[in-house]
Amino acid sequence: MKTITVFKGDGIGPEITDATLSILRAAGAPLEYECFDVGEAEYERHGALIPEAAFASFEKTKVLLKSPITTPIGKGFRSLNVQLRTKYDLYANIRPAKANAAVKTPFPQVDVVTFRENTEDLYVGVEEQIDEDTVHATKIITRGASERIIEDAFRYAETHGRKKVTCVHKANILKLSDGLFLSIFREIAKKHPTIEAADRIVDATCMELVMYPERFDVMVMPNLYGDIVSDLTSGLIGGLGLLPSANIGKDMAMFEAVHGSAPDIAGRHIANPTALLWSACMLLEHLGEHGVAGRIRAAVDRALAEANLTPDLGGTAHTKEYAEAIIDRL
Ligand code: NAI
Repeated sequence: MKTITVFKGDGIGPEITDATLSILRAAGAPLEYECFDVGEAEYERHGALIPEAAFASFEKTKVLLKSPITTPIGKGFRSLNVQLRTKYDLYANIRPAKANAAVKTPFPQVDVVTFRENTEDLYVGVEEQIDEDTVHATKIITRGASERIIEDAFRYAETHGRKKVTCVHKANILKLSDGLFLSIFREIAKKHPTIEAADRIVDATCMELVMYPERFDVMVMPNLYGDIVSDLTSGLIGGLGLLPSANIGKDMAMFEAVHGSAPDIAGRHIANPTALLWSACMLLEHLGEHGVAGRIRAAVDRALAEANLTPDLGGTAHTKEYAEAIIDRL
């Protein structure tokens, strides 16, 4: 048995966490759970977004399954997600987007993995008010952070039967910062001759992803482009409810759905738990539990093909009913 930490989050967070844990338990995942309420609601109750005990649990277990947390726009506290990623140096954000045969989309051939650098770029949160009408934001790109994410993307390609890694950038405009990222990519690509290396400007990437998604395989990019491009890939496969992610550091790892707390549907019990559940499958695979992860993935595939789905996928099922359909198929 391995103990993991679970953050329940805001909005739809508790609903999709309960559904996910019920499926993990039914599947016999060899896990024990230390669960914590975190986020805006916890802040209003106890004055801390993440209680000390929750941080301590993650520092002990090293593995976190995290639900979405609300971040107020343009004011208030810095995103907790960004804080967690930087505090624990969870530098590699891996977001696999694979079309599922059961989910009808115009893009059935999509199978791409985004490697998003997770610790720097514009997300360092350094903004300066120059005068009343002028604000500067600082974009940071360093050799160390770029090397490790690019190296990880190539190593992932080699170990997961992938053929190509594309570097996504805007080096035609940001000649120094994105220029450094691209030049490091070209250096590292030479060390991985069995993997095809390509590079694309981020705007062209968005167009090509929609028109010719089969041209892409693994993609690696700085933080901001990774945030945007990976949401685009979720749109290609049927929406945010289907995009899982891993945030991997040297010895700690956090797994979460890419979507946010969805306040527009919170409390209505219609959220799709699949992205969090697939994130939990990535967690199990990270722990070497490939068998149970595979069983859950197979049950999800069958439920997506046969069961009443949640409204984001065109069905009428409540979160719990859909979770029970997966459990029935385990
Ligand atoms: P969102 O991802 O929460 O929602 C965007 C749209 O997708 C909404 O219409 C929502 O109903 C739908 N959606 C998202 N997840 C769904 C699911 N599992 N099932 C069915 N429909 C789903 O993005 P939004 O509204 O921009 O952000 C809401 C809050 O979440 C903000 O405070 C934002 O900062 C935060 N956020 C947190 C993240 C995290 O904790 N990792 C990531 C992204 C946003």
